[in-house]
Amino acid sequence: MDLPFNGAISEYYRNDAPRAVREAIKRAEPGDILDRGYPYLERLARKPYEAELEALQVELLKMQAWVQTSGARVVCLFEGRDAAGKGGTIKRFHEYMNPRGIHVVALPAPHERERGQWYFQRYIKHLPTAGEISLFDRSWYNRAVVEHVFGFCTPEQRRHFFLQVPDFERMLVEDGVHLFKFWLNVGRAEQLKRFLDRERDPLKQWKLSEIDVQGLSRWDSYSDAIRETLDHTHTDHAPWTVVRSDDKRRARLAAMRTVLNALDYTDKDARLVGRPDPLICGGPGIWD
Ligand code: ADP
Ligand code: MLT
Repeated sequence: MDLPFNGAISEYYRNDAPRAVREAIKRAEPGDILDRGYPYLERLARKPYEAELEALQVELLKMQAWVQTSGARVVCLFEGRDAAGKGGTIKRFHEYMNPRGIHVVALPAPHERERGQWYFQRYIKHLPTAGEISLFDRSWYNRAVVEHVFGFCTPEQRRHFFLQVPDFERMLVEDGVHLFKFWLNVGRAEQLKRFLDRERDPLKQWKLSEIDVQGLSRWDSYSDAIRETLDHTHTDHAPWTVVRSDDKRRARLAAMRTVLNALDYTDKDARLVGRPDPLICGGPGIWD
């Protein structure tokens, strides 16, 4: 079988990746964390991960039951570079939930008609009604980062977005929507390693896109766009939770704990939920 993009990822790895990134990937033993700034040296082992995951998934079910009986509305949006682990985190959130009350929203690129609309319009359709949870795999923040990095929007459209987004989110929150904004932060070597794995794995190749390939050489433009976005949109009413996601397992547990902590659902086991690991997640201050 042909590799997608004729092996463009491995070609980048061999020819263009910064030396330090290539070395980090080459040196890594299974279980190692690649990025030096990460607060742990090794990934969380499978056994403790699975035990914690299952316990938190039980809590998520209690949370969903509360959402349904109380008529609450919950929005969790997941942002981050390609391969940051958005999809995998979202999958664990809803794995055991009643599919009727939970929606995963992963919109494709806007088509012609949508391009002529108010930017937020197509997202509004997917906001929850009473008793529902919406999980956004990417969100309106596309305009601030990927659309900007690839020139899919004009600088003026982006400025306009930054002007409107705090008010847009304030309207949601004032109306009672529980809004969680997660920024999954993956290091450069870890991202490339995940792309290499995807390129080799027929079950994962669908996740690779031309944007991923071209994005490799735009790491720094992404970094600038992300920094600007966090600066402009980390508000009191709709703060970001930045999650270090080089270890997917710790990232998933921290994101779940953030949501469970914040909601006052029936039968909560507060001791079990505990607090999200402050080394893994926090405000934009932990982004690098
Ligand atoms: P994903 O990471 O969501 O699997 P991609 O990496 O292919 O998808 O694209 C990243 C994001 O960029 C997606 O949300 C996609 O909709 C968006 N995108 C791709 N092409 C365009 C475009 N021409 N205009 C606006 N957004 C686009
Ligand atoms: C992720 O893993 O972050 C996304 O869900 C998939 C991707 O990056 O293409």
